[in-house]
Amino acid sequence: MINPLVRGGLPVETGEPEELIERGEGEYLYASDGKRYIDYCSGLWNTPFGYGNPHIQERIREQMERLPFCNLISWTGDLQYEYAKRLCAWLEMGSVLYTCSGSEAIDGAVKAARQYQQMNGSSRRGILAMDLSYHGTTYAAMSASGVDRIEAEPYSPLLPEFYWIKTPEDLYDVSAWLEAVGTCFEAHKNEAAGLILEPVLASGGVIPVPDEAIREIASLCRKYDVLLIDDEVSTGFGRTGTPFIFQRAGIRPDILCLSKAINNGVLPLGALVFSEDLTLLYAKRRASILHFSTQAGNLLSLAAADAVLDLMEDYESYRVAEKGDVFLGKLNEGLSGMEGIDVRGRGLLAGIALPVPADGQNQKLGLLLTRLKNKGIANYYFNNPGYNAGVSFLPPYIATEQQLAAVAERVALQIRRTYGV
Ligand SMILES: Cc1ncc(COP(=O)(O)O)c(C=O)c1O
Repeated sequence: MINPLVRGGLPVETGEPEELIERGEGEYLYASDGKRYIDYCSGLWNTPFGYGNPHIQERIREQMERLPFCNLISWTGDLQYEYAKRLCAWLEMGSVLYTCSGSEAIDGAVKAARQYQQMNGSSRRGILAMDLSYHGTTYAAMSASGVDRIEAEPYSPLLPEFYWIKTPEDLYDVSAWLEAVGTCFEAHKNEAAGLILEPVLASGGVIPVPDEAIREIASLCRKYDVLLIDDEVSTGFGRTGTPFIFQRAGIRPDILCLSKAINNGVLPLGALVFSEDLTLLYAKRRASILHFSTQAGNLLSLAAADAVLDLMEDYESYRVAEKGDVFLGKLNEGLSGMEGIDVRGRGLLAGIALPVPADGQNQKLGLLLTRLKNKGIANYYFNNPGYNAGVSFLPPYIATEQQLAAVAERVALQIRRTYGV
């Protein structure tokens, strides 16, 4: 039997799926066989407020009845305008271009960086990015992603002129980070149009880029007039304990790429947010950005996004940083004394790097993921040959400290069971 559903990035299958997920409530998912999972992936990192948030549902319902769609080429829908205004005021930025996904936002940012240089009479077209970054699967986003290069091979040629900042071997060595940033700029400053920063290399193994390195990147971008693109698709809207990492690090991106939690994952939406300076430059030149798709800025997606901004007004009450400390602390406690394991993360973005066998075969990781699932814990993994492999957790902000501690204990137990005492 052919399985009629192709899931992007996974092997094409025959046969029926093992189970179907039918329902979600709060932090739980319910399968057709009645099994319950605690969703510590928050969907695919995009449902931090859990399933069934009544405020989000109500806003979508109200918008659906009033006006579900507005053609942004011919008109401006009230919410399309008001949401852009609200988001820009909150972020202290200049303008918003809507997309349907994070990948599409990255593609738009790469275009804008090249166009920016062209508007300034420069021939620079290169893009600097991090060698363990993930930015999506459309062509520019895939070209900008340092991970999955082998998987990307069948789709070659990717876009030209992408150059990598090398992740230091010692992830905690700030001076090695600074050196890696400096080396990449030194080698490519004459070609670089833009730089894409992923401030926590999430798919790359949950590696927080040190704030000092983020600030060095921002300062070199200014020095060499390279457009700074901050990809906060996975970290944005509070995942790491502050609404956005750029705010905590004290930098000002030229372009901010958003998606995922922007509307709690209920409807497709992404956004490119431009700084005031960049907005004014485009306006002065009367230049347009040719990056458009029919559903970008869909009003139902925006109603949900606007509801998320309401929820973000109460962000402090979710205590994301404190909850992250509890979760990471309990994982560390449960895994103490084990060799070759590194627990790391920021806020409620957590990763556990696990030992990788010399032959690169990762049967133990597969076994661990199955065991966690059998214990009712939805999980996600990273596997970057030559770099790292492990499990990641992005619990929803609505998780309680007690529950986070209990799940961390259960996770540690399964890791001990799978990887030795
Ligand atoms: C940092 C980052 N950027 C971009 C993307 C791509 O977003 P999307 O899957 O919505 O295209 C992702 C998705 O995981 C991501 O984690």
